[in-house]
Amino acid sequence: MAFNVANVRKDFPIFERTIRDGKKLVYLDSGATSQKPLSVIDAESNFYKFHNAAVHRGAHQLAEEATDAYEGARLKVANFIGAREEQIVFTKGATESLNLVAYAMGNAEPGTRFALTSKDKIVVTEMEHHANLIPWQQLAARTGAQLSWFEVTPDGRLDLSNISSVITENTKVVALTHQSNVLGTIIPLEAIVARAHEVGAVVVLDACQSAPHMPIDVKKLDVDFLVFSGHKALGPTGVGVLWSSLLDDLPPFLYGGSMIETVTMTNATWAPAPRKFEAGVPNMAQAVGLGAAVDYLTDLGMNNVHSHEVALTKYLIDKLLQVPDLKIVGPTDLDSRGGTVSFTVGEIHPHDLGQFVDSQGVAVRTGHHCAWPLTRKLGVPATTRASLYLYNEESDCDALFDAILGAQKYFA
Ligand code: ALA
Repeated sequence: MAFNVANVRKDFPIFERTIRDGKKLVYLDSGATSQKPLSVIDAESNFYKFHNAAVHRGAHQLAEEATDAYEGARLKVANFIGAREEQIVFTKGATESLNLVAYAMGNAEPGTRFALTSKDKIVVTEMEHHANLIPWQQLAARTGAQLSWFEVTPDGRLDLSNISSVITENTKVVALTHQSNVLGTIIPLEAIVARAHEVGAVVVLDACQSAPHMPIDVKKLDVDFLVFSGHKALGPTGVGVLWSSLLDDLPPFLYGGSMIETVTMTNATWAPAPRKFEAGVPNMAQAVGLGAAVDYLTDLGMNNVHSHEVALTKYLIDKLLQVPDLKIVGPTDLDSRGGTVSFTVGEIHPHDLGQFVDSQGVAVRTGHHCAWPLTRKLGVPATTRASLYLYNEESDCDALFDAILGAQKYFA
């Protein structure tokens, strides 16, 4: 399908509304959550309207239809990232996916593959948002493992100069973001994966900010675990994805119905993955909605989505660099960066700036973006962040530019 942003926008009902007294809605906050095409809204609502029943349990027709829809969504998600369906676990979000991996490792029997001790090391980066930092801090605290990290350079890249002393022989886990939710930086994954695998560590990739925006093939990335959230990828809230080729070796995290093989009064055994990780009645309608979202993205073509965003990111950065006193926090070149652009403007506090641009109909995020150690390291208490997606167009960037100039006059 040819990519045409005007046609894409027509698929998103929210863009029919205006904001702040009749102004065009300029949505530049897709890093926080994406808007939804009608096909996703319909898929979720049609599940409830026509097929609602608990999956994997009932012997009746609705249960069969619900199970087919839910498992069909799993296959779509698997195809979307080049995986096999039994390697896909539906969670309630990327945060839960990351907690699942960290907690499950914490449940590993001593001496088994994922068990950690005080001799082991977990490696993260200073670029992580809290969801991919705190679960590892907590796992380190529970097991006595040491937490280490890659630092960030002043221009917002990962410093790999000491890769061999950060990822050492006793490193068990390397958990890192594919693309920074603050800086837009895409990390040099290949070198990190090579070093991690050289020492026998597993790589956990947080693809929240990459999977919605670029083609992903887990085989090519060669990581061991990958997570992303549905709601940032045009899907509903309340659904996330965990992919891994190692699910069979990972103990469960949540216990309950559906994830078991046999149960006695004193013991239980586990169903094969992915069921082992989906205790309880799952988020069926949301998973089906996510299936529709990946259909939508697949129909558009992830290469087309990515090319559109690369061109628009260039346009946005060129525009922002024309604003006096504006400093981009993160890479200004297009090499290995996505469409998330954080900045500060002179002495205007990002919260004031965010409020002013909102008064002009422009939605951006302000603050530390749930990545407090990163903003602290870069010496900025907060930034203003514009994050682009497939429905943004050049006029959205122009509107942000005009609103920032307006703010400069207002706060002068
Ligand atoms: N969801 C958070 C963001 O807005 C992390 O980037």
